[in-house]
Amino acid sequence: MTQWTPSSWRQKKALQQPAYPDINQLNAVEKELAAMPPLVFAGEARQLRQALAQVAQRKSFLLQGGDCAESFAEFHANNIRDTFKVMLQMSVVLTFAGKCPIVKIGRMAGQFAKPRSSDTELVNGIELPSYRGDIINGIEFTEAARVPDPTRLLQVYHQSAATMNLLRAFAQGGFADLHEVHKWNLDFIANSPAGTRYETIAGKIDESLQFMEACGFDSEISQLRETEFYTSHEALLLPYEEALTRQDSTTGDWYDCSAHMLWIGDRTRQLDGAHVEFLRGVHNPIGVKAGPTMDPDDLLRLIDTLNPNNDPGRLNVIVRMGADKVAEGMPKLIQAVQREGKEVVWSSDPMHGNTVKASNGYKTRSVENILREVEQFFEVHKAEGSYAGGVHFEMTGQNVTECVGGAFQVTEADLADRYHTHCDPRLNADQSLELAFLISDTLKKARN
Ligand code: PEP
Ligand code: CO
Repeated sequence: MTQWTPSSWRQKKALQQPAYPDINQLNAVEKELAAMPPLVFAGEARQLRQALAQVAQRKSFLLQGGDCAESFAEFHANNIRDTFKVMLQMSVVLTFAGKCPIVKIGRMAGQFAKPRSSDTELVNGIELPSYRGDIINGIEFTEAARVPDPTRLLQVYHQSAATMNLLRAFAQGGFADLHEVHKWNLDFIANSPAGTRYETIAGKIDESLQFMEACGFDSEISQLRETEFYTSHEALLLPYEEALTRQDSTTGDWYDCSAHMLWIGDRTRQLDGAHVEFLRGVHNPIGVKAGPTMDPDDLLRLIDTLNPNNDPGRLNVIVRMGADKVAEGMPKLIQAVQREGKEVVWSSDPMHGNTVKASNGYKTRSVENILREVEQFFEVHKAEGSYAGGVHFEMTGQNVTECVGGAFQVTEADLADRYHTHCDPRLNADQSLELAFLISDTLKKARN
């Protein structure tokens, strides 16, 4: 294999990159970004590798979630807070059931670039370049908005820095204190079945804390007052990722300091492609999506390239086959990995293989199919003797109507009410919590 450098990906074919009209402007932006402070510190990425190694060793469970695409329009403290709250709630539910720590990673503070199935979009006979995420162009269907604009990379950097700052404050400043467990329930789900079930668990946690305090136990310890929360996004727009890649002064290793964890999408995982080249050289924990076309031998080759030392916390295989394909597609991948003795964290993304078009044109997903894929993910792992290590959701704390089903029975006709996503349909807070309970039942069964 050739020598890796932060820019060696430029010698390879990079799919899904925009064609910037002014390369000089892009280069100036890259230079500016390269001089900015990193968004994460290499030591934190190493800490996440250790946490993920615990998942690989069956001692923890991974919960990864957030927007399909962050946007400039939806950038607001309340949105960040509410997604964070729902992840805390889901994590409480899962900890309670699995009796194990939950590694929490947001699709936040950098999840802006989107791969598209077509380079152009056709509306009413007008064809324009596709929207590729706010880091690249604008979602408005006008010629001007769709031109790739390098200054958007800077706006993403600043928005990500502000988002990261708030997440750190929430995680460590008292908001995530287990004594506050009741306050995380969002108003609009407080009386739903999932919200009510959550209140019961919150009550038990309260009682346990009070009991321990009565026994003289000091509950003001950091394990209860603070939480660890990591960030992640798809490393799709390589000029942005390269510009934020830094050499760690303590180890000499390279880290992509735009997020703690980065993943390779299902459309850009070619072994000889630029995305694999870039991520093989950074020392962050990384993910690779595995869709229905993933071949077991290709997966093994990807594993060898991305995790040559077989380090258990390095690589997360994110399976996203679809509810109808996972039972057939996943066993052969697991068998290949087990046969070769490879260490990976397996997680289930039950979103991207279950996207459909509703009769009224909205892109949607049904909670039922999402759940069906997660359940089969667990069943297959049980049958193969491997570990179902985590889940990966597109979700929000807002009361959106983007996925159909769930306790509130969002119908196709309801989709028009509050459909705010800039890309794929997300689970709303109630649907997310409902899923957490269903997974918790599965985890409980697995424990017994
Ligand atoms: C995504 O995670 O938003 C995504 C585009 O996923 P995939 O690469 O699995 O299609
Ligand atoms: Co998506």
